[in-house]
Amino acid sequence: MNTLIAPSILSVDFNNLQKSIDIVNHSEADWLHLDVMDGVFVPNLSFGFPIIESVAKTTQKPMDAHLMVIEPDKYINRLRDLGVSRMTVHYEACPHLHRTIQAIQKAGMKAGVSLNPHTPVALLEDVIDNLDLILIMSVNPGYGGQTFIEHSCPKIEALRSMIDTKKASALIQVDGGVNFETGRRLVDSGVNVLVAGSFVFSSTDPVDTINKLKLL
Ligand code: DX5
Ligand code: ZN
Repeated sequence: MNTLIAPSILSVDFNNLQKSIDIVNHSEADWLHLDVMDGVFVPNLSFGFPIIESVAKTTQKPMDAHLMVIEPDKYINRLRDLGVSRMTVHYEACPHLHRTIQAIQKAGMKAGVSLNPHTPVALLEDVIDNLDLILIMSVNPGYGGQTFIEHSCPKIEALRSMIDTKKASALIQVDGGVNFETGRRLVDSGVNVLVAGSFVFSSTDPVDTINKLKLL
């Protein structure tokens, strides 16, 4: 399977959001990654429903929402109604993770679970068969443009072997500090989906950068 690419619009110029959506539309990107932050689960605010509603009008790529919020269950139906295809919640934010995953899938979306850098993949053992996506954070969530945490590669190798052993179908996604060099190593470690924000949108030719990431 080819590597899937999900550009994140977190670090784009929101005064010119349509330009960034057009870039993604004209590229070979597979999904559009939306980073929603509440200032409680992570020490930053990003954007919410008004921006997602606006993006939904012109994106030609499936919307992949990464909820860095407490109580994400509150937003399931609204995100579905806005056309979001995949909703990823944080393991650390969900005391009843199994119930949350079921609610996302019942609403008609694919369900993902994200792990912070300190959370071991072994904690997913009892729920992995129910997941469509596992998002490994390769930086501490909250900000774009951070340095890649090296431990992410062996962590992804361990997750890949857990998925293969259990014959589970969840895709592995990674988010934070992705560039050509870290991306290559992440794909070698077993990643299916690369999220990339600042590397794409600070490059001179973002469409070309997305298309090249896809070839890793
Ligand atoms: C971090 C977000 C990421 C972020 C990635 O909290 O979840 O999606 O935008 O940004 P880069 O690619 O700049 O590390
Ligand atoms: Zn993200």
